[in-house]
Amino acid sequence: MAGEAPVRVLGIETTCDETAAAVVERAADGSGRILANVVRSQIAEHVPYGGVVPEIAARAHVELLDGIIAQAMTEAGIGFAELSAVAAAAGPGLIGGVIVGLTTAKAIALVADRPLIAVNHLEAHALTPRLTDRLAFPYCLFLASGGHTQIVAVRGVGDNVRLGTTVDDALGEAFDKVAKMLGLPYPGGPEVERAAARGDAARFAFPRPMLGRDDANFSLSGLKTAVRNEAAKLGEPTPQDIDDLCAGFQAAALESVADRLKVGLRLFRDEFGDPRALVAAGGVAANAALRAVLERVAEEAGTPLVVPPPKLCTDNGAMIAWAGAERLAAGLVDSLNVAPRARWPLDGNVSVPAKFAHTRAAF
Ligand code: KG4
Ligand code: ZN
Repeated sequence: MAGEAPVRVLGIETTCDETAAAVVERAADGSGRILANVVRSQIAEHVPYGGVVPEIAARAHVELLDGIIAQAMTEAGIGFAELSAVAAAAGPGLIGGVIVGLTTAKAIALVADRPLIAVNHLEAHALTPRLTDRLAFPYCLFLASGGHTQIVAVRGVGDNVRLGTTVDDALGEAFDKVAKMLGLPYPGGPEVERAAARGDAARFAFPRPMLGRDDANFSLSGLKTAVRNEAAKLGEPTPQDIDDLCAGFQAAALESVADRLKVGLRLFRDEFGDPRALVAAGGVAANAALRAVLERVAEEAGTPLVVPPPKLCTDNGAMIAWAGAERLAAGLVDSLNVAPRARWPLDGNVSVPAKFAHTRAAF
């Protein structure tokens, strides 16, 4: 679709514990503008349980979503009739929430007689730097959230190759679990980062998972267990013990991340040539120590680093609306029969070079 008129897309995000809706405009030249971006985090509802409870999340999405969509439309100053399409994250994620968001999008698409676009939540993270920085393809994405840890070659809309993934815990999940075992509140990532900044990273000798391997996969559960074992030896850890354990954990995790990214960038170059940038997305990208690691890795690789602003790195509706607008511009729309998916690998629909096929086994 090479039309001159800008497209306007409503995007709905309900795959985890954020209920979000946004309206984004994409001009024919590929530039984007956020007209509204409303995010309601459910963290408070889940804090008493120390993590996201899927059934509570799904019910909260049901209660909140209508009002959040109405607010986004009001802030954008347009009605459903002025939308070009309705997009929703159709997975991967907690299936109850995905059903709520996708069904709502289908109802609006049907009533407003607009095309529906089923967006892969991971692709929405992957395409965000094109909204924020007008980044050209191809680029290398490091996606690190509570549910995902992946290195992806982003080559075009709907054309992604996963270069590496975690074989067990996601990076944010490991931060959250370490926080929980040390008695720090949920979500644990920012708590561990704060404690780590006060602690001595050299006090505990934690393993550096996967270091030196020639694939670009991650593993974090062994490191997590090592932290648990050291904490158990201490009995009742003092605040200083907690700070030192967090510092040791974060240093080990980030050294592993740096090594895995170096390999990922090398695999990228071998297969696809120079990436336009190394891009970070997902909640863990808010970690300042990780940011420093990314800067070093990017500099060593001679690649610019692009990190979208924190509120577009974590889950939000604008990334879904933008991915919808990019798909619409590429002529990709979905039928109202499209199914919600708990699992949906980013590279599920394209052919993958045989040497990366093993990364499909996990996630
Ligand atoms: O992308 P996100 O908001 O939600 C999804 O998981 O989809 O990411 C949340 C994750 C949580 O695991 C949280 O602990 C982690 O990102 N996180 C951090 C930091 N801020 C958030 N991890 C480490 N350091 C941080 N500063
Ligand atoms: Zn996400």
